[in-house]
Amino acid sequence: MDSKTLRKKFLDFFEKNDHVIIPSASLVPSEEEQLAGKEKVLFTSAGMQQLIPYLMGKPHPKGNKLADVQKCVRTDDIEQVGDATHHTFFEMLGNWSLGDYWKDKAIELSFKFLTEELKIPIEKLAISVFAGDEDAPKDEESANKWKSLGILGKRIAYLGKEANWWPTNSSSFGPCGPDTEMFIWTGEGSAPEEFDPKDPKWIEVWNDVFMEFNRKSDGTLEELPQKNVDTGMGLERMLAVINGKDNDYETDLSSSIIEKICEELRVSYEQYKQPIRIISDHIKASVFLIKDDVISSNKMQGYVLRRLLRRAATKAFQINKEFGRKPFKSLVKSVTDIYPMYFDEMSVESIEREVSIEIGKFRKTLEKGLREVEKIEKIDGKIAFDLYQTFGFPYEVTEELFRQKGQEIDKEQFKAEFEKHQQLSRTASSGMFKGGLENHSEVVIKYHTATHLLHQALRDILGPQVFQKGSNITAERLRFDFSFDRKLTDSETRQVEELVNQKIKDDLKVDHMIIPLDEAKKMNAIGLFDEKYADKVSIYGIGPQPRGRYYSLEFCGGPHVEHTGVIGKIAIFKEEAVSFGIRRIYANIAL
Ligand code: ALA
Repeated sequence: MDSKTLRKKFLDFFEKNDHVIIPSASLVPSEEEQLAGKEKVLFTSAGMQQLIPYLMGKPHPKGNKLADVQKCVRTDDIEQVGDATHHTFFEMLGNWSLGDYWKDKAIELSFKFLTEELKIPIEKLAISVFAGDEDAPKDEESANKWKSLGILGKRIAYLGKEANWWPTNSSSFGPCGPDTEMFIWTGEGSAPEEFDPKDPKWIEVWNDVFMEFNRKSDGTLEELPQKNVDTGMGLERMLAVINGKDNDYETDLSSSIIEKICEELRVSYEQYKQPIRIISDHIKASVFLIKDDVISSNKMQGYVLRRLLRRAATKAFQINKEFGRKPFKSLVKSVTDIYPMYFDEMSVESIEREVSIEIGKFRKTLEKGLREVEKIEKIDGKIAFDLYQTFGFPYEVTEELFRQKGQEIDKEQFKAEFEKHQQLSRTASSGMFKGGLENHSEVVIKYHTATHLLHQALRDILGPQVFQKGSNITAERLRFDFSFDRKLTDSETRQVEELVNQKIKDDLKVDHMIIPLDEAKKMNAIGLFDEKYADKVSIYGIGPQPRGRYYSLEFCGGPHVEHTGVIGKIAIFKEEAVSFGIRRIYANIAL
């Protein structure tokens, strides 16, 4: 069975059983989902993420029985990626009851799908249920239901929170509860009579979580206003199991990427199985992250993207020293070809460009960095940080390079250096807004101020719905992403360009202010503001007007030019779509 058929079977089955199919949410959770979960999460890591507010009691516009295929990214197991079953990117098939059906129906649906739709013989199934503790009783209700469907008592294991509670990590806040998991026997011959959850030939394929509690920020549980069911089945793993594969990489969701990697690096898969799997996983995750508007940077989601791409590049270089940025461009296509429902032609082009720029940048320091690594006799956290600072080596890359030499790094020391450095750059007002700035050369600073003018000019010409979504500046050009739902006309592009150039010509003064957040908000300062913990914020105003109004007023840590006149003249040379509702402009300073 291929992935397309499995997805379709799942969705059709739940639709037939009165569920409404909802689309996959972005890999980057919305503010609301994050706040309702009371925990800051970087990525959508399970199907339930987009449903958090509804699990907590808010009515869902599509009803109370839902199903979907959700794109997920998990980075906790990044070190295990490359073995048979770990990925950073995967798709999760899930169905939900938001206060509708409960254990009985949930288990029945799962059982029917496995045995009737996927035709998995009942003799190959085993189950685990919650053993009970001070938070919730032993889950006999689920065990009895499984038995009534024909699962033998010996095939049911009772396990504790570490296995049958979700989220497993009990420090996570938000909706949670006991769960029941389904396992399929993948060994040769018939399955052992008794289920041993420690035997790796029993593969866990599906998890039905009974979410009846909310874990509060003080760690205690309270009952949710409604009893919910949240289920999750990993598409890659299920596909491997039903196709009799002992690893997730040899299915139609990865094999053509792996072939392309081998072709580009001119090696065979057998020779370099593990690094090739890592490259394939990381490039896939990167493509999906960029598609969901993540841009490489030094913090938050952007930093994860950067680490994934750099680790993949390092692996590729270790396999074939001649590799450049071109192979990565063609790898992007090998990913998007597998997932035509997620990508259109336009998004493919912009993802190729982003990947190739980021890889190209890192490629420049990679060789030098690796030579430096050769020279280091004994690694420690501080040197690992230096390697990051000087050559852009992410921690994982350095860790692996030295592990190959039999040395371990003190991660705490690395973290301490990292934090010390961040503190320093936070306090230096010029360092508060580093995101997207390559360095602080004179021309980069000019581009930075030009970006502020561009932001305001776009809002003047197109309307206040325009909002910055991202920015990236190099010594050659500025790139600016903003919310807008259609292509700009040529005339609009020219008007924006002219307006920016007029403001440059007016030689407006640029003011820097550090003021309380409330005051900045009252002044209607715009822009990305991500230093949430600060009570005072840094804002830049361009062109003080007689009554104290600025042409542009933005949250930003700088640096900026003092007068716009020094910028010269800008030219917009490209306008394109990044994704639905987001446009991108490239401009440079005309010489
Ligand atoms: N949310 C549950 C999981 O991710 C279904 O396993």
